[in-house]
Amino acid sequence: RWTAVDAYAFSHSHPASQPNAKALENARMASMAAGLPDIALSPAQGKFLALHCRASAVTHALEVGTLGGYSAIWVASENPQLRLTTIEYNPKHVAVARKNIELAGLSDRIEVIQGAGIDVLASLRDEVVAGTRPQFGFVFIDADKENNWNYFKLAKDMVKSNSVICVDNVVRGGRLADLGNTEPYVVASREVVENAGKEPGVDSVVIQTVGEKSYDGWLWAVVS
Ligand code: DHB
Ligand code: MG
Repeated sequence: RWTAVDAYAFSHSHPASQPNAKALENARMASMAAGLPDIALSPAQGKFLALHCRASAVTHALEVGTLGGYSAIWVASENPQLRLTTIEYNPKHVAVARKNIELAGLSDRIEVIQGAGIDVLASLRDEVVAGTRPQFGFVFIDADKENNWNYFKLAKDMVKSNSVICVDNVVRGGRLADLGNTEPYVVASREVVENAGKEPGVDSVVIQTVGEKSYDGWLWAVVS
């Protein structure tokens, strides 16, 4: 039913005006064909992030974890004024993403940086602090979960006031609240939820999601 509702509702939500529908489908197919893991956002989730960026008039967005570029293409397609910087560690994923982004006609607005998230974020932060790179208005963290809190702290230093930092996959079928579960990514999810939840200058909420990507959820934090 979760999948059926996603399919029904998405197909009745202005499908004809969806920009870059073909490029998004291509990105999904090309990523699968290249053997990338099937863990990209659903269409509804991609559209949600894109609509958030539009509603908040975001001009510079940041993503940690490009994968095949599916979410990047969503966010940039829906927002012609938006530039996205996206970081990916795996060179194979970078190559697939760059190709998908090029076919979507977005190479001029999406910058894919290959490297370890911590290193790249630290150098981006130095640029933002030095004033040589604009502050970001939205950050999507969707990479190696063990580093979620490290990524969050670095992201917090380079966003404009009242920007959202969203962390994907913190609920994981409910394991977030299963305190006996000590799998590293579950522990890391608890770490980012608990730390963001007491970080000065941050207010946060966890939104549980169901749909074609099963049962999971986002940490949604606003930096004041
Ligand atoms: C996994 C990672 C993700 O970012 C996601 O959205 C779903 C699953 C994973 O590593 O299993
Ligand atoms: Mg994810």
